[in-house]
Amino acid sequence: MEEKKRIFSGMQPSGMITLGNYLGAMKNWTALQNDYDCLYCIVDMHAITVRQDPVKLRKQAKDLLTQYLAVGLDPEKNTIYYQSHVSQHAELGWILNCYTYMGEMNRMTQFKDKAAKHADNINTGLYTYPVLMAADILLYQTDLVPVGEDQRQHLEITRDIAGRFNTIYGDTFKIPEAYIGKVGARVMALQEPTKKMSKSDENKNNTIILMDEPAVIMNKIKRAVTDSEDEVRFSEDKPGISNLLGIYSACTGKTIAEAEKEFAGAGYGTFKTAVGEAVVANLEPIQQRVRDLEKNKDYLDEVIKKGAERASKLAERTLSKVQKRVGFLPKVR
Ligand code: TYM
Repeated sequence: MEEKKRIFSGMQPSGMITLGNYLGAMKNWTALQNDYDCLYCIVDMHAITVRQDPVKLRKQAKDLLTQYLAVGLDPEKNTIYYQSHVSQHAELGWILNCYTYMGEMNRMTQFKDKAAKHADNINTGLYTYPVLMAADILLYQTDLVPVGEDQRQHLEITRDIAGRFNTIYGDTFKIPEAYIGKVGARVMALQEPTKKMSKSDENKNNTIILMDEPAVIMNKIKRAVTDSEDEVRFSEDKPGISNLLGIYSACTGKTIAEAEKEFAGAGYGTFKTAVGEAVVANLEPIQQRVRDLEKNKDYLDEVIKKGAERASKLAERTLSKVQKRVGFLPKVR
């Protein structure tokens, strides 16, 4: 039997998961789980590249696990685990740091954005963040990485690092490909539709949180910034309406063209109500499952334990190969 191709992706527990995270990543993850061998990681080590309150971080990490499961990821089919539970990530990360140039890191736009936002804490972890991300992916000989548009540059550097290592030492890493959905890959902030929707946004009206109640969702969509026309049409000069069209399309599976047709002449009020309802229809069942799962601590513990064991076993295969290739002596057993 042919082996399934491997998928790896992850999410930072650095805030409340947004509709952007869901439509850009999670929704695709659940669609891929039957056809691929998938690892879905909660990347807590990445989260501490900006200062986190430990109590909050633990809570967010716990919540993220229930959300992974609640969106429909089956722990029997997927390996779901915490990055900090699998030490090979940090070990490979260090080695790959020695095969990455500062010139490459200096070009990372996400670092520039985050450094500007956290000017009081521009730590070297934030700087080398993409190298740890490369380690996450390369440890598992990953074929495909389903992410939102904002991670494209990180995928490119991962491929560059892997290619460089392979050139020096011979085939060691599979060169992964990004998998970016056609819709939902870049959900924008509701009040400022020229910037992306982000977990860390301080303006709560910019984001829809996975756990927002239906009335809150309807309200936030109703208040979303649009424009002075009244035509539901996708266009660069209509960022607000285009964003809502993207959200509607990703939530309903209809194409943008179908949606434009559906709301031709309908006006923004009607359109916004339909967008809100489509979002609620996606999120409400997930919220119910989160509430059920939260009651089942033993089950969640079992998922975490099994996930870390399986991930660790797979990761060790690649790590020991890499250690040997760079010239480390084998452990004496
Ligand atoms: P993070 O935690 O910021 O986001 C998780 C996933 O959500 C996607 N995403 C969006 N998609 C559409 N619209 C948006 N507004 C939006 N905001 C976020 C992201 O593209 C991502 O897929 N560096 C990663 C985490 C990571 C990772 C990895 C991912 C660490 N190691 C290895 C893949 C493979 C990040 O910060 O994601």
